[in-house]
Amino acid sequence: MVLQRNKKVSFLVVVLAISVATINCQTFDVTKYGAKPNGQIDQALADAWKEACAAPSKATIVVPKGTYNLNKAFFLGPCKSPVVFQMDGILMAPSAAKGFKDGEGWVTFEKLQHLTITGTGTFDGNGGQSWGKKCKRTDYCEQLPINIRLNFITDSVIEGITTKDSKQFHFTVLEGENLLFTNLKIIAPEESWTTDGIHLGRSTNITITDTTIATGDDCISIGDGTKQLKITKVTCGPGHGISVGSLGKYQNELPVEDITVTDCTFKGTSNGVRIKTWQGSTDVLYLVCGAYPCEGIQLNNIDLKTTGSKIKGPAKSVCTNVKPEMSGTVNLPPCTTDDSA
Ligand SMILES: *[C@@H]1O[C@H](CO)[C@@H](O)[C@H](O)[C@H]1NC(C)=O
Repeated sequence: MVLQRNKKVSFLVVVLAISVATINCQTFDVTKYGAKPNGQIDQALADAWKEACAAPSKATIVVPKGTYNLNKAFFLGPCKSPVVFQMDGILMAPSAAKGFKDGEGWVTFEKLQHLTITGTGTFDGNGGQSWGKKCKRTDYCEQLPINIRLNFITDSVIEGITTKDSKQFHFTVLEGENLLFTNLKIIAPEESWTTDGIHLGRSTNITITDTTIATGDDCISIGDGTKQLKITKVTCGPGHGISVGSLGKYQNELPVEDITVTDCTFKGTSNGVRIKTWQGSTDVLYLVCGAYPCEGIQLNNIDLKTTGSKIKGPAKSVCTNVKPEMSGTVNLPPCTTDDSA
């Protein structure tokens, strides 16, 4: 009698375990929605997203290995459950930028919580034709799409993927909160135009770590209203370094606070770390604070080597209206005052 009861109990446990596993494993493979390698993926992605976003429990969208052509994608939330975007293929943009508005994303994720973008895949912006056109920021360039736009994304992880040859910025993060960027590759040629690696604005508690950024403009650029940003183990170069700003250009800008840059390597960059209120010159450290006060700046254990770099003449660090606190071994040249300030 006792023995039989035990058997019943263990049988029940097995059934429960199986049903939990099924619920947690909802997969939406784009090839089941009509996507074919070397074909156009737009509609399949939109259809897979619609179903994944409405799923009652954690949903995984899969883009398997293969190259797929994509004109534009817009992934809008909120979704019912956490969504994983498992990106193992290559998404390829058309070479011409047509039909994009100011600062629009080629791929946009918007209003999502608990989003994971992961995989070994590549977002290829196919920007080669765009960069040749020297332009003023106010006309042609701003109609070039940003490779990946993250608007109002919270509690999310972006990991593993590559973004390549974006027409404009690789990533733009607007009003993000509690985000982790890790193990990313961000690549465009040195001569590419306005291809900032990660641009952040009005975002809080963002970590960028274990990431390689080789691009034509700032590796990371930090816009107004950014707080609690940790940048660590990032390799930057080629590129223009890590920049705060430009700030002070518009009214109603929010302050930038609590930015930490640790264990980063800059190789062949035109600048290291800079805070700019306007376009600076070529310096390893450029802290020019005028219209905007800079406080609590600490420099700790900076090992600077210049070997046949693009820095013309001796390396310079320029500091205006800022007194950085030095600790540990800092072998920067001492701050001089910017004459042009
Ligand atoms: C900051 O974001 C991380 C995710 O990157 C999260 O684990 C952590 O809890 C967040 N911190 C706060 C104070 O919300």
